[in-house]
Amino acid sequence: MQTWTTAAYLIAALLFVVSLAGLSKHETSRSGVVFGIAGMAIALVATAVVALGSASGLGIALLLVALVIGAAIGLWRARVVEMTGMPELIALMHSFVGLAAVLVGWNGFLEVEGGEVEGDHLQLAGSLLGIHHAEVAIGVFIGAVTFTGSIIAYLKLSAKIASAPLMLPGKNGLNLGALVVFAGLTVWFVIAPQVWILAVLTVVALLLGLHLVASIGGGDMPVVVSMLNSYSGWAAAASGFLLGNDLLIITGALVGSSGAYLSYIMCKAMNRSFISVIAGGFGATASAAAAVEGEHREIDAAGVAEMLADARSVVITPGYGMAVAQAQYPVADLTRRLREQGVEVRFGVHPVAGRLPGHMNVLLAEAQVPYDIVLEMDEINDDLADTDVVLVIGANDTVNPAAAEDPGSPIAGMPVLRVWEAANVVVFKRSMATGYAGVQNPLFFRENTQMLFGDAKERVEDILAALKTLTPAG
Ligand code: TAP
Repeated sequence: MQTWTTAAYLIAALLFVVSLAGLSKHETSRSGVVFGIAGMAIALVATAVVALGSASGLGIALLLVALVIGAAIGLWRARVVEMTGMPELIALMHSFVGLAAVLVGWNGFLEVEGGEVEGDHLQLAGSLLGIHHAEVAIGVFIGAVTFTGSIIAYLKLSAKIASAPLMLPGKNGLNLGALVVFAGLTVWFVIAPQVWILAVLTVVALLLGLHLVASIGGGDMPVVVSMLNSYSGWAAAASGFLLGNDLLIITGALVGSSGAYLSYIMCKAMNRSFISVIAGGFGATASAAAAVEGEHREIDAAGVAEMLADARSVVITPGYGMAVAQAQYPVADLTRRLREQGVEVRFGVHPVAGRLPGHMNVLLAEAQVPYDIVLEMDEINDDLADTDVVLVIGANDTVNPAAAEDPGSPIAGMPVLRVWEAANVVVFKRSMATGYAGVQNPLFFRENTQMLFGDAKERVEDILAALKTLTPAG
């Protein structure tokens, strides 16, 4: 039985590696998902068979009930989740991994304390017992940080709490203090394991996770999500050590390291310091953003249609609002129509536009916008000054000039699409509300900007209708 389980775990681990490789490219991502599902199915069956072989009648019943309930909830959530709701669902799932690691850690400690542990590999004595207790402390710590951090990320991403960073006085000292207390308690726990030490350590870690993520502003949430993904991997690996489960160690390490690398890539794209973000916004200060004042000007759909009919070059910069409105289909129709009339139309996609990496690319591909006119921010930015009209469709933070011009802004330094350099800018949104980072946008008050209020899908459809009367197709 042991040999079969080891073989099954090895195959599952290999499938996870192949899955990750597949997920790294658009063309192979579907097969990457299939390999991942196959690996997880093999891992689940092998683990269940081992557990069923050694469990009591009640244990078997509980395991089957847990499997059925878990699978049902997973299937239901995956079916009903909106694409714009994916990040908060992912954050919630990370919190489950964190909670599981805390429970596994506590169980590992209580089992040894209660003398319930038997068998060769768990005849813990002397230095081995010390290692076991160190594993418990580290596993509980990573799990608890991941648990509360992910819950705060979920609340911020689902707009249940404000996304602005929490700026407690001496916040860096608090984080550092929590780490020092953790190190001290771990040493103490290894030397003299007592329940209260583990309890205090758990509370400190829960508070640290909460504070770390609460201190990070909305604009940096994409990095936080991938960072928590990495933490959840390390939490799973720690559980693997405690349970003596090799597959959990390998899978956890894969998730932990790939999540850390993704966080690093994202930090580079957002011009953020990796260390600063993982340390809960270390070095960020509560500087005041410059006041944004002025009058905004409005335009209607017929006015935009006239502007587009006269344009030679148009750039569309989509954002989260396009996803909310599901405006990608009329946007694709508008693009086709303008191109048929000889207008050069291109898209400028910011790396964190929307709420998922690649969110806008997926929506535009779904609406069959040709790949070759969808450009990344760095590819389009220098051309914006020579563009007649930029249509900002549901984007806000990713086109905010304060990031480039106001050092006091919470999003200062984040690279943005320099849409304000174009001759004319039309911003599609429903109100003057701020974007995800909660920062007011001076773009709306610029001389060359006009606001087109309303739902993005309806407004683009209105423009299409107006264009048809202005320039009937030949
Ligand atoms: P946001 O800054 O989120 O702004 C979206 C805008 O869309 C809002 O100002 C909103 O204004 C408008 N909007 C919403 N529904 C609309 C509708 N039905 N019709 C028209 N407009 C609508 O957008 P962004 O520029 O894409 O920036 C993304 C932000 O999310 C960044 O701060 C980024 O860091 C953060 N974030 C990104 C990710 C990833 S990985 N992409 C993950 C988490 C967080 P009204 O309410 O006035 O309409």
